[in-house]
Amino acid sequence: MPITFDEQHRIFKLDTPSFTYALMIYQENYLTHLYCGARIPDTDLSYLIYRGRFSSLSPYNTKVDDPFFSADITPMEYPTNGAGDFRIAALSVRNANGDAVTDIRYVSHKIYDGKPALPGLPATFDRDGKAQTLEIEALDTVTGVKAVLLYTIFEDYPVLARSVRLENTGNAPVVLERAYSACLDLPTMDMDMVHFYGRWNKENTTVRHPLQHGIQSIQSKRGMTGPNHNPFLALAKSSATEETGEVWGMNLVYSGNFAFDVEVDTQGCPRVLMGINPTDFRWHLEPGESFQSPEAVLVYSNTGLGGMSRTFHHFYLDHLCRSQWTKKKRPLLINSWEAAFFDFDDDKLVEFAKEAKELGIEMLVMDDGWFGDRNDDHRALGDWYVNEKKLKGGLSHLIERVNALGVKFGIWYEPEMINPDSDLYRAHPDWAIRAKGREHSISRYQCVLDMTRQDVRDNIFQQMYDVISKNNIEYIKWDCNRHITEAASAVLPPEHQGEFFHRYVLGVYDLMDRITTAFPHILLENCSSGGGRFDPGMLYFSPQIWASDNTDPIERLTIQFGASLCYPIPSLGAHVSANSRASLKTRAAVAMCGTFGYELDPRKLTEEERDIVRKQVADYHKYYDLIHYGDFYRITSPTENPFLCDWQFVSQDKKEVLFTRVVMRHPENMYLPLCLPGLDPEKFYTDEETGKVYSGALLMHGGLDLSSYDFGENGDGTSIVKYFVAK
Ligand code: GLA
Repeated sequence: MPITFDEQHRIFKLDTPSFTYALMIYQENYLTHLYCGARIPDTDLSYLIYRGRFSSLSPYNTKVDDPFFSADITPMEYPTNGAGDFRIAALSVRNANGDAVTDIRYVSHKIYDGKPALPGLPATFDRDGKAQTLEIEALDTVTGVKAVLLYTIFEDYPVLARSVRLENTGNAPVVLERAYSACLDLPTMDMDMVHFYGRWNKENTTVRHPLQHGIQSIQSKRGMTGPNHNPFLALAKSSATEETGEVWGMNLVYSGNFAFDVEVDTQGCPRVLMGINPTDFRWHLEPGESFQSPEAVLVYSNTGLGGMSRTFHHFYLDHLCRSQWTKKKRPLLINSWEAAFFDFDDDKLVEFAKEAKELGIEMLVMDDGWFGDRNDDHRALGDWYVNEKKLKGGLSHLIERVNALGVKFGIWYEPEMINPDSDLYRAHPDWAIRAKGREHSISRYQCVLDMTRQDVRDNIFQQMYDVISKNNIEYIKWDCNRHITEAASAVLPPEHQGEFFHRYVLGVYDLMDRITTAFPHILLENCSSGGGRFDPGMLYFSPQIWASDNTDPIERLTIQFGASLCYPIPSLGAHVSANSRASLKTRAAVAMCGTFGYELDPRKLTEEERDIVRKQVADYHKYYDLIHYGDFYRITSPTENPFLCDWQFVSQDKKEVLFTRVVMRHPENMYLPLCLPGLDPEKFYTDEETGKVYSGALLMHGGLDLSSYDFGENGDGTSIVKYFVAK
């Protein structure tokens, strides 16, 4: 049994082949944390609760017969506010008396096979009977608030999925003021925080810095994930590198206001909380009601950041992305946005499709501008009916013409938004989010619809259903181009307004669930002004997410490398566009480290460029499995090296290797041999281009010979792609 309970020591152990997580029911039924790391066989880990002596300023419980126990320094499993632990709390509940003292103690537990779904929330799942779950009930006897702590481990992965359900079993209403999904109390601050930050057009810049005493935090309060920070954090041992050392990776399956708070206490021990951002969060719970937190995914790696990333990648493809397209070959698409922006009609799109077909491209995606009175970004969001002035003869006719060429058809939506200049707004001004007595801020000329409301969601669902059900639409790009301000709902009573942000996210999930359930055959690609909502919550619904509006391949290196820390390569929406000075070859090399597609006017390609594109299309098919299902290795990172960026895919059987180098600037050392990680030293790899054969050991330890490559005069923006195959 991977999850065990040792009755004698009252210790829960959750074991996978390379990972152990342990916690203990201590005296007076305190739930204490013991361990999270490499697999260990021992059963009695109880001494791991001791992390030094507490001072006279730390409170203690006189009923506990242990002079070394204080909730103030002991690692706690789900720490609460105001009852002896002065560090940051995962749970804080304001009770009917008006105070927020919260204290939960173990009551019971159960262990069972499988994994429960989380109501209303995306979450990891167990498709093939490989998961086991531990549920622990802990009760605050004063308020009657019960915390049900959920832990699931998966047979093949060093992964733990955690969430919390809070139930009001008392007689009076309470307010949840903090309800994090998980806490992790680690024993050393000899660690670096690794995360990524950004903004529109410049997402996912990876940063790594040492932990400091005090509280450090990564958050969003934008109502959506946002490009500024991502709900991902890794703590890496200071000595850990890309391919060696211990790393704890954390990711929240959530698309709204999140927080990853790390407090390093006076003992030098970090506590990490991950969950819904407590700012602007107050959840009212009547007796009998319950609240489910989003899920936190924790990955342990002792093969560095690279090992952590590969675990996230494969785990998400197996246990998070629910779309039937996750492991089904996806069509190679061309998107109209950068090719035409709002300036298109049916004939132009048919011309695109004709050209695309000739190049081997399989799908045309009609981006923004096909609906209502939409000829620029000032109006019509919310009016999801076809603009027949543009698409003469209607959408069905256009799709028939495109399909007749042998090309599939996809479409763009921005379902959560409304322009003040729209029929929908004129009919329902109160559907746009705004706080009573205040104007709403405008961003990109638009407002956000109040997705907490069933009537709003029903309207948008029906509008979308009417179009999608009547047309042969095989792909949807779901966009979201602004964040939430003046947050309040016209229909929520005052005591529930503090729930607005989370209810918004639940509303989006509900609508996305309804659309993907009604049309399971549709390939959904999320987008939010590029990669502004790149998170596991969205990945649950859409196996690919547009990574950035920035399609320049050199800029994309940082963006895609950052996202690859936890998101699978086949989830990174990446296109070859005309919007770059880099060669077509380099643009494709970088887009190939993602979903791969095109976003340019195919009519403008020269004959020479058309031949290059045909070759790229052939490569897309040739390397599809290797890129989608292989192991990804970051070798030289663009945030650490301003000159070079190197990466590689290795097939699971280690027989195929696809290596890419992009030269951003011309360094002195670019001809040095480069060691390739992750190969089989016993195998012999043939360079497909030259026919030369190298042992895996030579490529791994001596390095790949780069001395003969022509990187051009300056080397700027050039690239090489090498494919090796072993017999
Ligand atoms: C966002 C997206 C783009 C495009 C435009 C359309 O910016 O990121 O890809 O769809 O909206 O308005």
